[in-house]
Amino acid sequence: MQTLQMMKERWLKAIEASNDLSLLEQARIAAFGKQGEVTQEMKNLGTLAPEERKERGAALNQLRDDLMAAMETKRTQLKAQELLQRLASESLDVSLPVRPELKGTVHPLSQALFEMTEIFKSMGFSVAEGPHIEEDYYNFDALNIPAEHPARQEHDTFYMPSGKEGVKKVLRTHTSPVQIRTMLAQNPPLRIIAPGRVFRSDYDQTHTPTFHQVEGLMIGEGIHMGHLKHCMTEFFRRMFNLPNLPVRFRPSYFPFTEPSAEVDIGFSRSGENLVLGQGDDWLEILGCGMVHPDVLENCHIDPARFQGFAFGMGVERVAMLKYGILDLRSFYEADTRWLHRYGFSITEGLTGGGER
Ligand code: DAH
Repeated sequence: MQTLQMMKERWLKAIEASNDLSLLEQARIAAFGKQGEVTQEMKNLGTLAPEERKERGAALNQLRDDLMAAMETKRTQLKAQELLQRLASESLDVSLPVRPELKGTVHPLSQALFEMTEIFKSMGFSVAEGPHIEEDYYNFDALNIPAEHPARQEHDTFYMPSGKEGVKKVLRTHTSPVQIRTMLAQNPPLRIIAPGRVFRSDYDQTHTPTFHQVEGLMIGEGIHMGHLKHCMTEFFRRMFNLPNLPVRFRPSYFPFTEPSAEVDIGFSRSGENLVLGQGDDWLEILGCGMVHPDVLENCHIDPARFQGFAFGMGVERVAMLKYGILDLRSFYEADTRWLHRYGFSITEGLTGGGER
């Protein structure tokens, strides 16, 4: 049996000779691991006579403590050494250009919807919503567009499988069914807008299969065309920040309003761009009218007592005009370069008003 003193010296040397942390770890395993030498010596204690075991046991414990302390000291030294080496070899090049910071932007459509909603809210309108998958009845019939009506053909409808009880469903082709849902659910007076997504099976430079509209509805006693005119004129002048924007009402036809009108705003062309508020060209921007008595009746509202107006406009068209966006399809291409050009940062957009 070797003397413990010799063994201790051998291990102390081995610890001292360990030049890095992994060598030190190897030494620790060779001494204290499951098969390690010190561990083995501890196990052998069991074979000794009690007297001898007591003495050697105490000595072995001492040896273990001394070796562990030596290892700990060495470990601390090696760690400090490694740190110094890293500090000497690694350097920080502060002249390197910073990595670009990826910041999200507010999509121009979200921005436009937000601004439009804010203006109508300030006029006392609240926001109503309806489903994208809409009952054929709400999308058409209740709005005075029966099955054989030519207006149905113009809508390029996406038809959906019928729901339970054979209820015919479509992807809503406009936000007007929200008028019906609102009138059925609430009693007049009513003042709502319904911003949201609509769908038509159409795709070319000026049509995409999905786009957005803002619908409006105001019903009360004694509401007339003058209210509609003021509301629309005020809305566009505020939306485009042009207090003198020319706004014109032109007679038109929609099955759900009587009389019906289209609203045009004055503009002129400058190269590819449209300049609003000057020149003598007119741009069609919105459909509106006085809610048809039949539509009121479909919603159990007495047309002898209540009247009102409705309107509907495309959000993309308004956003294109306001932010100078030229191609409708670009709204849906999710091109981040486009978003960085036309999107709004959180600080300049939304509550900031989106001025450019
Ligand atoms: N729903 C019509 C469309 O999508 C737009 C419209 C016109 C809505 C006149 C109205 C309205 O509420 O009164 O073309």
